[in-house]
Amino acid sequence: MTRPKLLDLFCGAGGAGMGYLRAGFEVVGVDIAPQFDYPGVSIIADALDFAADNWREFDAIHASPPCQASTALTKGTNKGREYVQLIPETRRLLRATGLPTVIENVQGSDLRRDLTLCGEMFGLGVLRHRYFEVSGLEAVAPAHKPHRGRVRGWRHGTYYDGPYVAVYGAGGGKGSMAEWQQAMGIDWTDDRKAIAEAIPPAYTEHIGWQLATHLTASTAA
Ligand SMILES: C[S@@+](CC[C@H](N)C(=O)[O-])C[C@H]1O[C@@H](n2cnc3c(N)ncnc32)[C@H](O)[C@@H]1O
Repeated sequence: MTRPKLLDLFCGAGGAGMGYLRAGFEVVGVDIAPQFDYPGVSIIADALDFAADNWREFDAIHASPPCQASTALTKGTNKGREYVQLIPETRRLLRATGLPTVIENVQGSDLRRDLTLCGEMFGLGVLRHRYFEVSGLEAVAPAHKPHRGRVRGWRHGTYYDGPYVAVYGAGGGKGSMAEWQQAMGIDWTDDRKAIAEAIPPAYTEHIGWQLATHLTASTAA
């Protein structure tokens, strides 16, 4: 049987894309910037323009619109800057395709929280809660596990120790590249900015297996 084909919008270096690859999908990523480390086929284009013209080539779509308009880390510093909020337009376009779709974004974003995934659910070294709005299939999250401690690093002049790594920003005490890669489960890129924007592939692998089962069942019906 041929592999199902997934369109990965706003693909970055492929944190999300790698999860779907591991779940057996053929993956095509689209990003406005070149993504040399992307683990599938990558295309440089505006994500929504590309999706509008090409969605019929795919069995399912994932989208991770830029989160700067929503994230708590930048909300305080967003004053005076204009971040485009792409979630509503992404949702409209994906819904119109009628395909099974997944939209992912940060905590605090304006997404339906069909699943909220956390690194501890997958034994990772990051907490990194993310919302997933899943349409066209039922997907379930693993049970949430209690956090084992703090995110280690400096905050307001105090150093906190703990089992989790802070994978964001460029400030001091944020962890080495090897720590970031291990904590996220990402070993195919050492692009710090791309990893800071990525999700752990374990999240989309978890959803990807459910999506693959759904597509197989729909084909058989
Ligand atoms: C949150 S990151 C994606 C991270 C990715 N899902 C991962 O897990 O590695 C958002 C990406 O959207 C890209 N981007 C921003 N505006 C875009 C647009 N209009 N079309 C395509 N990509 C865009 C950025 O270059 C960035 O790589």
